[in-house]
Amino acid sequence: MKTLYEVLDGSSRDEERIQRAGEILKAGGLVAFPTETVYGLGGDALNPASARRIYAAKGRPSDNPLIIHICRWEDIYAIAVDPRGMAKRLADAFWPGPLTLVLPKKEIVPIETTGGLSTVAVRFPSHPAAQRLIAAAGGYVAAPSANASGRPSPTTARYVAEDMDGRIDMILDGGAVGIGLESTIVDLTSEEPVILRPGYVTQEMLMEMLGSVGVDGTILDGKSVQRPKAPGMKYRHYAPLGELSVVEGDAVAVQEAIVRLCEAAEAEGKKTGVIASDESAAFYRADSVKSVGSRRDEAAIAHSLYRILREFDDEGVDVIYSESFGCRGMGQAIMNRLLKAAGHHIINV
Ligand code: TXA
Ligand code: MG
Repeated sequence: MKTLYEVLDGSSRDEERIQRAGEILKAGGLVAFPTETVYGLGGDALNPASARRIYAAKGRPSDNPLIIHICRWEDIYAIAVDPRGMAKRLADAFWPGPLTLVLPKKEIVPIETTGGLSTVAVRFPSHPAAQRLIAAAGGYVAAPSANASGRPSPTTARYVAEDMDGRIDMILDGGAVGIGLESTIVDLTSEEPVILRPGYVTQEMLMEMLGSVGVDGTILDGKSVQRPKAPGMKYRHYAPLGELSVVEGDAVAVQEAIVRLCEAAEAEGKKTGVIASDESAAFYRADSVKSVGSRRDEAAIAHSLYRILREFDDEGVDVIYSESFGCRGMGQAIMNRLLKAAGHHIINV
């Protein structure tokens, strides 16, 4: 399959490009598009054949449900029920934006889209091109992140093309995304709302709206044997090709341990990489030292993490050691992705 590549350049021709993409989606095809979190791989959410195509293009297990993207908040009522009004409260506060709500699904949603579940995940993204595309496609677009299954989610159209060229109908290039990590997912079907995947919208922000909000026990606990409630969170994810370990402990001890680990790996002839911060990067002598940004700026760390993981791949790094980051606020999302990328391989010093 030849993949069309269209750049959204802000000119009057964008409308035509988006309409064309909308027609492809309506006809059952697949289009990758920018959102404020990461690039999505869109298909018609109400068409079972589109869901099957998405799973095939990503190489994703079909028990891993898709998020349905809408472009007017009240459209949630066509596909889901909100018995306690909690979705409405969260939508008022955070939509459009990087928050996904899990609710009981309505009949109209095919189980192919929900991976066999009776619940559905819904998100109203804030990215203008995403909103226009969803409208052009008829209002309901199923979209996982536009990476091949297991790889870091794409933050630019070039990374989408790396994984998806020849496998989908079209890529809409809207430049680099803003946030760089996937949306927060909150499950509203249990007695207490539970965060299934941390993100830009933090537990503190959700608690302000709902009172008590839990966090799925598997999110930051490397040793948990519990099954995560978001089926996708059970798979190794966001993984670079090199072997990644996260080093945890006191800041100075972590730096010294990473230096020793790199020396040992180099002695074995391995190409080494380090994920550092602006505060520590100068300390390391690995083959490739990358700073995720200043520890004082979590948004910057979130923004650069997936790009850095892909850059190590491009450089053919064999082993990567990462510093760990704080778990407050958005730090929870950063550490969750890092630990998953490392397959929960943690070195405590
Ligand atoms: O920011 C995002 O959410 C991006 C952009 C494209 O919108 N999308 C995204 O989709 O990250 P995906 O498919 O890569 O991740 C969706 C996650 C998976 O872990 C999946 O298991 C979970 O959401 N999920 C989807 N539907 C669910 C449901 N009904 N119950 C529990 N978890 C669900
Ligand atoms: Mg994903």
